[in-house]
Amino acid sequence: MEDQRKVEELKGRLEKCKNLVVFTGAGISKESGIPTFRDADGLWKNFRVEELATPEAFENDPVRVWEWYLWRKEKIGQCQPNLCHLLVSKWEKQFENFWLITQNIDGLHRKAGNKKILELHGNIWYTRCIKCGDVKEDLSINYPSLPPKCSCGGILRPHIVWFGEALDSGILNKAMEVSQEAEVFVSIGTSTVVYPAASLPFVALQSGAYVVEVNPERTSLTSEANINFFLKATQFASLFEDGN
Ligand code: APR
Repeated sequence: MEDQRKVEELKGRLEKCKNLVVFTGAGISKESGIPTFRDADGLWKNFRVEELATPEAFENDPVRVWEWYLWRKEKIGQCQPNLCHLLVSKWEKQFENFWLITQNIDGLHRKAGNKKILELHGNIWYTRCIKCGDVKEDLSINYPSLPPKCSCGGILRPHIVWFGEALDSGILNKAMEVSQEAEVFVSIGTSTVVYPAASLPFVALQSGAYVVEVNPERTSLTSEANINFFLKATQFASLFEDGN
């Protein structure tokens, strides 16, 4: 079935839908200029994860970890939401019960206007004090000295879930709950390999949702989804442009 007929089918489903859940990964931000994690030109290609995105790495060398995150913040800060981020933002206004679940930490969904967001892996634009736990928005891309300190004197860390760390249970439970209640569940730009996030599309499937996958590559979800768009995120979004 070519893309136009697929999108007509999806539009038909969306017209009858109240509970729409969108689930995104790094692929939705790639065309905004942010490298993914596991693509050939992915982010991790040049870095050893163990050196940077783990609590041990931060404990051993908080300055090096902060240098990497400040470099990423500077890069991400220059990126804008793309057509697909904007479509997801438009959907939030169109559907009575809409939720966006993202694995991305880049903040582009917020920049595109989404508010009902469950950020499973945190947000690079927020810091957390390792002493008092205070979480606050912090748009700095450099500090007078590293690591930055909280007013309580504690060290600040990026408010991001690192490898080996548990996700916020409240956010994960809410993500599970909305995935179970979804009538339509649209997964965009994720390799569906990192759990527990990757279980969400399958939770939606088991609860009877109509599951859509948008990804130019096949993943473990591809054969299970009700409909596949082997497209880039912006190509998919362009199918919803007025007049289409
Ligand atoms: N549009 C849509 N999808 C794309 C595009 C694009 N333009 N380009 C690449 N993709 C797809 C790739 O085919 C791949 O399946 O996006 C997916 C990106 O996969 P990953 O790099 O594994 O990113 P993600 O699934 O978000 O990783 C999950 O792993 O490293 C951790 O915490 C990190 O949140 C991240 C998690």
